[in-house]
Amino acid sequence: MIGKGLGFGGVLGRPEIVVRTASVEDATMIAAIHGESFARGWSDGEIEALMRQDNVAALAAEYRNVFGHSNAAGFVLFRSAADEAEILTVAVNPASRRRGVGRALMEEAIRRLYAERIGSLFLEVDGGNAAAIALYEMLEFIPVGERSGYYAHGATPARGALVMRRDIR
Ligand SMILES: CC(C)(COP(=O)(O)OP(=O)(O)OC[C@H]1O[C@@H](n2cnc3c(N)ncnc32)[C@H](O)[C@@H]1OP(=O)(O)O)[C@@H](O)C(=O)NCCC(=O)NCCS
Repeated sequence: MIGKGLGFGGVLGRPEIVVRTASVEDATMIAAIHGESFARGWSDGEIEALMRQDNVAALAAEYRNVFGHSNAAGFVLFRSAADEAEILTVAVNPASRRRGVGRALMEEAIRRLYAERIGSLFLEVDGGNAAAIALYEMLEFIPVGERSGYYAHGATPARGALVMRRDIR
């Protein structure tokens, strides 16, 4: 549980981010946030099928504001194999961004992978996704490669993807 105080002198509560293991019952919520976050959304069924795979783990975050109202704020899905893992997708509800939710989700994923003795965590990010790249750099991911023309955005020229890695051990 991670709290960020706003200094209201105890009149209002502290905003809180709670990160928990997600289950297939969360697939609809995850698909909704995914759909608001990416040009190509994934259906509930696609999310659920991914979550049912043995080596895939999912975390969900809830954000509770100073008035005590909680909402589903974000999720991360990651997959591990041998001593490596990859982030499959991570997203935060647009209304809950820039409050530390993405960071809390990624940090909890890294903690869990560390406990499983995973050595390296990889991810792939659209080279134009400044918000995500800033988050990953803050978490000490380093660029280790590029894939050109991987992300096509309609009529605009396809942009490259950045492959990033974070050592966990
Ligand atoms: C990328 C994403 C998950 C970040 O989630 P978030 O909850 O807003 O991120 P946080 O609040 O934890 O931000 C942590 C740090 O990342 C960086 N960051 C996050 N969003 C940023 C933005 N829009 N511009 C610049 N830096 C940003 C900042 O350094 C930030 O720290 P600060 O707020 O103290 O300056 C969110 O923007 C999102 O869901 N985007 C759409 C989906 C997506 O692109 N997913 C990644 C695919 S690879």
